[in-house]
Amino acid sequence: MKSESNMKTVAANHKNKLAQIGGSNGNPKCVLAYSGGLDTSAIVIWLKELGYEIHAILVDVGQDEDLEALCDKALRCGAETAVIRDAKPMMFDTVIPQAIGLSAVYEGTYRLGTALARPFIALEQIKRAKELGGATLIHGATGKGNDQIRFEFAYKTLAPECPVLAPWKVWEFEGRKDLIAYLKSKGCEDQFDETKDYSLDENFWHISVEGSELEDAKADVEVGAVLDFVKDKFATGGSKNSPKSVTVEFDQGAVVAVDGVKQSLSDSVTQLNKQFRHAHWAWDLVIENRATGVKSRGLYINPAAKLLQAAADALARCCLNKPAYDRYVSIAQDYATLLYKGEYFSMQRKVAEASAKPLLDCLTGKVTVTLDPVMYVSKIDAENSMFCKETSTFEASEYSHADAGGFINLSWLANVGQSFADESYLETDASYENALETTGNAASELCENQSVAGGGLVSTAV
Ligand code: ARG
Repeated sequence: MKSESNMKTVAANHKNKLAQIGGSNGNPKCVLAYSGGLDTSAIVIWLKELGYEIHAILVDVGQDEDLEALCDKALRCGAETAVIRDAKPMMFDTVIPQAIGLSAVYEGTYRLGTALARPFIALEQIKRAKELGGATLIHGATGKGNDQIRFEFAYKTLAPECPVLAPWKVWEFEGRKDLIAYLKSKGCEDQFDETKDYSLDENFWHISVEGSELEDAKADVEVGAVLDFVKDKFATGGSKNSPKSVTVEFDQGAVVAVDGVKQSLSDSVTQLNKQFRHAHWAWDLVIENRATGVKSRGLYINPAAKLLQAAADALARCCLNKPAYDRYVSIAQDYATLLYKGEYFSMQRKVAEASAKPLLDCLTGKVTVTLDPVMYVSKIDAENSMFCKETSTFEASEYSHADAGGFINLSWLANVGQSFADESYLETDASYENALETTGNAASELCENQSVAGGGLVSTAV
C-alpha cells in the first residue's frame, strides 16, 4: 500500500476532483455498478469519504446471488440508494441470439460471458444516472483488464455528458489485500475471504474464474480444484445423471425448442446450465489476449453456451455452401472480437449483425448433441440442408465422377498453373535432406523411427 502521506494527497486530489465534477451544478451524485464483491464494497466506502452521494445499482445478468441482500450490503457500506435492474430480457432479445446463431467465440475458445454482459450493465447504470438528473458513472474494473474498456466505451457513447470515475485508476490501493485492510479499518462487518484470490464473474452465460495459480502459465493447473471452488454455482438443480444427449431446434438461427419443448431462449439456457453444470465437457481453460495487451488465463464454465453454439455451427456447416460458410465464420470472428473489445454500442456491431442476417435465416432444423463420453454433434436434420446423401455417398449415385476431370483441369489452371515449378522436389534423397534442414528440421539429427511434428515417423528410407 502507498504511504500515509501519499494517501492523504490522493484523497485531497479527489476532493478537488469532486469539487470540479460538482462545480457547475453542485452535483455530488454518482451511480456505481455494484456487484457486492470486495472491490465495489471498498469503492462505496472510499467514495463516501470523498463526499460522493452514492447510488448503487445491481444489474441482474443471471448471477446466482441474493441481489436484495447485496443491496442491503451497499446501503450498509454507505450508499444512499441501492436498486436492482434486470438486464436479462434485453440481452436475450439482442446479443444472446446473435452470439448463439453465429457461434461467436473469441480466439477460438472464449464464449464471451463477461463481454456480453458489461455493455448492458453500463446501459442500466446510465439509465439510472439519467433518472437522477445526471451523475458521475463509476465502475470497479481495474486498469489491467477488458471490463474497464467495455464500461467506459458504453459511457462515452451513450452518456458523454456524464463524468466517469474508475477508482482503480486513481486510488491509493494496489491489490486485494489492501482493500481487505481498508474495509476492516473502516469497521465493515461484511466478511471477505482473505484466502481466496480468484476473481469470479458469473452470469447466465458463464462463470469465469481468473487469478491465483491461473495467473502463472508455468503453474500446472489442477482444474478439479478450481471447479471445486465454484461447485455451488449454477446452484439450483443440476445432476450428475444428466441426459446423454440433447436435441436443439432452430428456426432461422434462433433456438426455439430443446428436446421438443418449445420454450423461451432464457428458459432453454437456464435449463441447460442447470442440467450440465457438472459436465466435464462444459468448461474450458483458456489463455487469451486482453484488449490491453495483458495475457490472462481463465477457467470458463459455460454448458449452455457451448452446447448451443456447437449445434448452431453444425447447422451452418450443413445449410451454407462453402463461400457462405466462410462468410459466417469470418462475421462470427469479427463479431466476437468487437464484443470482446467493448464495441457493442457501435456501427460495426450493427453492420456485423445485419450481414449475418441472411446467413442466420438459412439455419432451420434440429440438431442432436451427444454428451457422453465427450460432447459432439451426432445428428443434423435441417430443412434446407445442402448436405446431400446422394452426392456425398461412396456408393453409386447420380453424381458424375467424370465431371471432376474437367473441374480439376480448369481449377488447376486458374489456381496453380505453370508458375510453381520447383524441380528440387524431384531431385535425389540428399537434396531432400537439405530441404529438410533449411526448413528447420535438422535431418541429420532425426533417427530411425523417431516421431516428427504432425505425428509422422521417419523411416530408414528418409
Ligand atoms: N477474461 C474475461 C473477459 O475479459 C473474463 C473477465 C472476468 N472479469 C472479472 N472481473 N472477473 O471477458
